[in-house]
Amino acid sequence: MNYSKLLFGLAVALTVACQAPQQEQASAAEQNFFQHGVASGDPLADRVIIWTRVSDTQADEVPVSYEVSTSEDFSTSVKKGTTQTHAGRDYTVKVDVDGLEAGQTYFYRFQVGQTFSPTGRTKTLSQQADSLQFAVVSCSNYEWGYFTAYGKIAERPVLDAVIHLGDYIYEYGPGAYGDTTIGRKHEPAHEILTLEDYRTRYAQYRTDKDLQAMHGAHPFIAIWDDHEIANNTYQTGAQNHQEDEGDFEARKQAAVQTYYEWLPIREGAHYRSFQYGDLASLIMLDERLAGRTEPAKGKDDPKIDDQNQSMLGAEQLEWFKSELNSSASWKVIGNQVMYSDLYQEPVWPNFPINTDSWSGYRVEKNAIAQYILDQEVENVVFLTGDTHASWAFEVLVSDVSDEAVATEFGTTSVSSANHDERKPLDTVRATEQRFYPHNEHLKYVNLADHGYLMLTVAAEEARAEFYYVNDLRNPGGDEYRAKTFRVKAGTSTISE
Ligand SMILES: [Fe+2]
Repeated sequence: MNYSKLLFGLAVALTVACQAPQQEQASAAEQNFFQHGVASGDPLADRVIIWTRVSDTQADEVPVSYEVSTSEDFSTSVKKGTTQTHAGRDYTVKVDVDGLEAGQTYFYRFQVGQTFSPTGRTKTLSQQADSLQFAVVSCSNYEWGYFTAYGKIAERPVLDAVIHLGDYIYEYGPGAYGDTTIGRKHEPAHEILTLEDYRTRYAQYRTDKDLQAMHGAHPFIAIWDDHEIANNTYQTGAQNHQEDEGDFEARKQAAVQTYYEWLPIREGAHYRSFQYGDLASLIMLDERLAGRTEPAKGKDDPKIDDQNQSMLGAEQLEWFKSELNSSASWKVIGNQVMYSDLYQEPVWPNFPINTDSWSGYRVEKNAIAQYILDQEVENVVFLTGDTHASWAFEVLVSDVSDEAVATEFGTTSVSSANHDERKPLDTVRATEQRFYPHNEHLKYVNLADHGYLMLTVAAEEARAEFYYVNDLRNPGGDEYRAKTFRVKAGTSTISE
């Protein structure tokens, strides 16, 4: 018997008994404290964040113990400790566990009273790996479909990270950007605006078993895109924020607070990088809140070429440039919106340019491409979300060069609506074909399928594999690998 554990359990039982209302006085052993599973994230060579949330408590303070081990049965304990949580952080728990070894798989769990959380698995940053494996995801709309893609990622052996490029939640009320007929109606039943609203929405998403399984199986490295706040967010506003919805700054603060409460992310600067020894640097950009100015209104808006238009903000841009000079072989960019030129006017005459993407922030886009050329930065791979479609580009920035300066892989949505949910599939397939003659640097587009991207990085090449699910509208679908692309080190050339 572990004496300290026993005392700790008694202390929690007393706390719960004293403070919980009468009907909630079940014994600790009977309570389901861990309804939102466990998660880990922001791994470094010697540390990783582990996360959980304590449900069904109204105690002022809840002591939570945690344990990290190299074995799944916790027979060898590496780290143990106790922390506290409370209503002020929505009873979420985050511990930055340090003193770990690089490139090592660990198991972790939490305990409240006599109740253990599910066991999570994570991995610290490899410093001498021959290859790295990442799953790349974006855009999961709870209402629109099942998170089967997350479930399939969960089944994989431990990854170096799941990279989430944003739209982890959507802010809309039921039916506003989804289909409620499959019974996954958004909670609360209105557009989320307040701290309580955002917390309720995250709590709902995190009851999803596929999402919980993915979090429990791999470390997570995430950035927000717009829908974690509101559609097409920039620093001081959003397309989906109207005056009668209150102060935007207050809404933004509520959204950011909830994000930090619910995701296994280290507190502090949101843009950040992860160094996998000499092999790769993963550079996560914040293209929404750090410095983005209001997007141009359309193709002819002179704002597009305005010197003051900014996606990253001056400080982040300088940081990004210095990160591009990393000595690591591969520079993998966690990027929210499309970077490469895309000539889409002949395909979508009513939507000739996406001013919310890098194409609407031309001065800064060109400056980055010019920097890559001037500094002869090799092996730059952009990973992109946002479009609910799959893309593979040899990155062209035609204002700067006729040659590709990087490669870019756009991952499709986990479940958010894409083009064939609005138009017949054969129309969508024909649309895809119409892109190619106008965009020679575009090697692949798929506007119809949902799933995720696997990126494998090794010294000699990077490999991108597009995985799709065969059924979004029912739980338990299958996946298949649709396409594989390779980039040889020292080139910005994509081959199959
Ligand atoms: Fe999205």
